Amino acid sequence: MSKWLKTKAVLHDPHVRKHVPETRRMTAQSLRLMLDRYAMVYIKPDAGSYGKGVMRVEKNGGKYSYQTEEKKRIFDSFSLLYRSILLHKRNRPYLVQKGIHLLKYKGRRFDIRVMVQRNFQKKWEMTGMIGRVAHPKRIVTNYHSGGKPMEIRTLLTPLTSGATRTRIINNIAATGYAAAIALSRKYPKLVAVGADIGLDTDFRPWIIELNTSPDPYIFRHLPNKNVVRKILRYTRSN
Ligand SMILES: Nc1ncnc2c1ncn2[C@@H]1O[C@H](COP(=O)(O)OP(=O)(O)OP(=O)(O)O)[C@@H](O)[C@H]1O
Ligand SMILES: [Mg+2]
Repeated sequence: MSKWLKTKAVLHDPHVRKHVPETRRMTAQSLRLMLDRYAMVYIKPDAGSYGKGVMRVEKNGGKYSYQTEEKKRIFDSFSLLYRSILLHKRNRPYLVQKGIHLLKYKGRRFDIRVMVQRNFQKKWEMTGMIGRVAHPKRIVTNYHSGGKPMEIRTLLTPLTSGATRTRIINNIAATGYAAAIALSRKYPKLVAVGADIGLDTDFRPWIIELNTSPDPYIFRHLPNKNVVRKILRYTRSN
């Protein structure tokens, strides 16, 4: 399912909209504009998965750079940068999105997968949350790209604790839940949404991506096995 259509669908909700990083279809013009505006952006295939083809692009002084997988390339001009990106992305449509400076755990970026499912009463329920820590040399947190699933509490403990930490976790859950509801208004047949939520350095939650057939098995990595059990029960019943 197209990331562009899913993003557009949730923008109708004024509360959810505030948590969506600005996203456009990528052209030379839109990439240039977004780099001028944000200095750091992510570009990704409209129909991608597993973090494949995702690139982090930066404008720094007069220099331009982009990173895919573990390799960073630096250029003296926007045209040289864009030419190289075009070769890399081949013919696929791409999106450009405001880059979020994700929080780090031991020097590694992390984001959070929030699972929202229809329960036995067909009502939306938040069934699980898990942190995903990027491989130290990578720009994506996906499991298939070397990301490591970890408990959110562990990831947030060096950064904040006590009531603040609980409030941040509740905020992440509420953002994922609201995003799932907003998406299901446009796509009523949906039964599960996996929201990828990033936190910036102010702990503000950003909706990086909404997955409509989220992997239930990542939750096997949580010590509390009741979480994955419930997620699988709901998955099978839908
Ligand atoms: N705007 C952004 N700012 C910061 N990090 C981002 C941004 N967009 C993507 N990322 C990082 O890259 C990862 C992969 O991007 P994304 O989830 O959009 O695509 P995907 O995982 O390839 O697609 P799918 O989840 O459908 O398999 C994210 O989980 C996040 O770690
Ligand atoms: Mg993703």
